[in-house]
Amino acid sequence: MDKRTFLRTLGVATLGTMVRDDLWARFTGLSPERLAEDEKFWQTIRRQYQLTPAYANLENGYYAMQSQPVLEAFIRHVREINVEASRYLRTRQFDDNRAVRVRLAALAGCSPDELIITRNTTESLDTVIAGFDWKPGDEAVMAEQDYGAMLDMFTLQARRYGMVNRVVSLPLHPQSDDEIVRLYESAITPRTRLLMVCQLVNITGQILPVAKVAEMAHRHGVQVMVDGAHAFGQLEFTIPSLGGDYYGASLHKWPGAPLGAGLLYVRQDRIRPLWPIYSDTSMADDDIRKLNHTGTQPVHTVLGINDAIDYHQGIGIQRKEARLRYLQRYWTTKVRAIPKIVINTPEDPARSCAIANVGVQGMKPADLATTLFDKYQIWTVAIDTANVHGARITPHLFTSTAELDAFVRALKDIAAA
Ligand SMILES: Cc1ncc(COP(=O)(O)O)c(C=O)c1O
Repeated sequence: MDKRTFLRTLGVATLGTMVRDDLWARFTGLSPERLAEDEKFWQTIRRQYQLTPAYANLENGYYAMQSQPVLEAFIRHVREINVEASRYLRTRQFDDNRAVRVRLAALAGCSPDELIITRNTTESLDTVIAGFDWKPGDEAVMAEQDYGAMLDMFTLQARRYGMVNRVVSLPLHPQSDDEIVRLYESAITPRTRLLMVCQLVNITGQILPVAKVAEMAHRHGVQVMVDGAHAFGQLEFTIPSLGGDYYGASLHKWPGAPLGAGLLYVRQDRIRPLWPIYSDTSMADDDIRKLNHTGTQPVHTVLGINDAIDYHQGIGIQRKEARLRYLQRYWTTKVRAIPKIVINTPEDPARSCAIANVGVQGMKPADLATTLFDKYQIWTVAIDTANVHGARITPHLFTSTAELDAFVRALKDIAAA
């Protein structure tokens, strides 16, 4: 990328020349890991987000807000489409959708014919779960730390078709990849057809060895569906490199797209056997678009994905991942050894990135989150399920170390009380 594109994409073109030169030098001269520690550079990125002065937002896992350049472009799309209205829908929407799919597929490292734009991970993965022709006694494997919507969808299939769900429980601090692979393998039987695995567990931030789990499952003839809700746009990888058969992600999380955008990847040879939830007889059985007939679409959101990709690529996935991991480790290393504070996220840097979970012994997660907000003006979310009891802490690119210092002070205060 050249300097002009960098400045335009990140919306910093209007800053003074000195600042621009300085920024460009940092951006091009420092490794992602060194840049991650450079508060001055990230302060500039912070100014690209409109933040409330009322509280520090450390709950960016549900929805990671759009930067102002992306938001402004989105608003323009809303206005433009509202002018052309049905003419846009009848003439241009399908070509534009295809163009965004092509860009997304390039980002994901797959063919555009293996990817569709959905509204979110839930729609993507539930389309796969409900698309299987389950027979009584068929089995699926998943973890109790998986996302509730998918667990519910499997439960529904069990009620409807008599299939059986086998649920493992992930350790919070695994000693090796092999421990995780063996755990999933222990739940596989000759009746297992599908295994769901999270690339990055949302309640703890733990990164799982998905490629190794997929390789093991395939050895047993089991198909693999990867929940990439939090990984896509946060970690550097390509979808096919994980070896899964199906992959779902939300683009309104780490890629920074407008709300209500997701993707579904289905490996080419897995498309034909999947039953669509919404019928579209105009599509061939092996055309992935057969899974995408959900009626009139928020097409401005689809167009907004383009601008989000510009912004995402403007910063670069390596810099993003390095900064997010730095922020998480910035605060977790300061509190991990403090009495009564329990970190529910692995210490190994390769096993986590932005997200971590912290509990305080003797305190309910809901009380911890409420205290953090009411007393310290820090917004988080309480997690109290499976073996995870604490507040989930999710910084964003705009999070400053000063905010994390305030959070650490609050935690120490609460633990000492
Ligand atoms: C691991 C995981 N899977 C799936 C989802 C569902 O995402 P969405 O609500 O965007 O469909 C989430 C949401 O936070 C998640 O964390």
